[in-house]
Amino acid sequence: MKEANFLKENNARHLWHPMAHPADSLANPPDIIVGGDGVEITDVDGNRVVDAVGGLWNVNLGYSCAPVKQAISDQLEKLPYYSIFRGTTNDAVIELSTMLREFFEPDGLSRAFFTSGGSDSVEVSLRLARQYHKLRGEAGRTKFLSLKKGYHGTHTMGASVNGNANFRTAYEPLMPGCYHIPSPYTYRNPFNETDPEKLAQLCLSALEDEIKFQDPSTIAAFIMEPILGAGGVIPPHESFMPGVREICSKNGILLISDEVITAFGRTGSWTGARHWGVKPDLLCCAKAITNGYFPFGAVMVSEAVAEAFENDASGKGSIGSGYTYSGHPVGAAAAIACLKETERLNVKDNAAARGKQLHEGLRKLFMKHEAIGDVRGGHGLMCALELVSDRATKAPIDKGTIGKVHRTAYENGAMVRVSGNNIILSPPLVLTDAHVDAILNALDKGFEAAS
Ligand SMILES: Cc1ncc(COP(=O)(O)O)c(C=O)c1O
Repeated sequence: MKEANFLKENNARHLWHPMAHPADSLANPPDIIVGGDGVEITDVDGNRVVDAVGGLWNVNLGYSCAPVKQAISDQLEKLPYYSIFRGTTNDAVIELSTMLREFFEPDGLSRAFFTSGGSDSVEVSLRLARQYHKLRGEAGRTKFLSLKKGYHGTHTMGASVNGNANFRTAYEPLMPGCYHIPSPYTYRNPFNETDPEKLAQLCLSALEDEIKFQDPSTIAAFIMEPILGAGGVIPPHESFMPGVREICSKNGILLISDEVITAFGRTGSWTGARHWGVKPDLLCCAKAITNGYFPFGAVMVSEAVAEAFENDASGKGSIGSGYTYSGHPVGAAAAIACLKETERLNVKDNAAARGKQLHEGLRKLFMKHEAIGDVRGGHGLMCALELVSDRATKAPIDKGTIGKVHRTAYENGAMVRVSGNNIILSPPLVLTDAHVDAILNALDKGFEAAS
């Protein structure tokens, strides 16, 4: 490793950070993380903190997951790369596809299409949805519906269904034919409705209304996160996703569950769709599929959608999507080991228990600190605090104050993530109750310092 002074001098000078303004990165150089161990990370100055961000919602098993590391190094020795484009494959990806079929069986998903990450998975799922309808003689079904506040990565199709202006405006015009409906976000919504169940019904009515307006025969798919993540952790009422499923089925629209965050246990269930008792037509995953140790993802496909492709005799079912790294053997080996560890440790149950503890602790912080306008969570290890400068008007907090909360929390032992006026918590699923207390204590200090 280069010495600390070199790293600090060169920090943010020669690279542009994703989701950041280059000038801001120069003015406020990022924390330099140089080590990870268990659920803790260490910075270049030797500070060690609990990683309440879990890498980026992906290091579900922490930083010391030996089986995944070993699998990667063994596979690098054996076969570091071979493509799975038509005509060749590799042993690791075959084994992984059988394991995923079993894992996703309760969701009704039985085929995998491999990608290099979450944005790729979203892109491929949208493309497959259009192709599916073309195969079935409904070529007019090309439009997509999604939720405001939803996050679906940053490729152009994904950004087009994305529900947050920050990821759209600079890159417009995006893809035509994408329409957004209000999300079941009780704290702020156009209906001024705070009751989660009533709000879910209003959003479902808005969806039905939009479908009628567009004409169902023009719509390919509805894409949603079972619990909205990057948009500020928005868990809908339990009636919402089943309601979406019903409306989609009634109108011949495919339901894509974007589970780049929620698959593999984060919600306290193995998938977000299963959490709500829903079977999607397509499911996007990535991130925790390799514990974040290798860029990898997959689109899981339902039996019915798969049959349309597999039974096609016209040639139109040939899949014109794919990446050099689709089915990468090192990623596949990492995913095999990761899936075995994920199941062996039964991380979904710890996610549920620790998530409850974290959510309850955050509710206590809400009673204590006026800057907290809303506390969201209660479904596994994904929680958010929405900060305001005035609880009555809900005016968002200023950047300086939220920055102070973040910095003080870090100095007191926890890395948390700031996104707009939200503090987002998505720690590894293997953390202990003492780690949860450490995160809550660090946040408490952060709010005290900022008040
Ligand atoms: C729900 C969802 N979809 C898609 C993506 C994009 O994934 P990636 O950053 O791996 O491209 C993310 C990333 O956070 C996500 O949360």
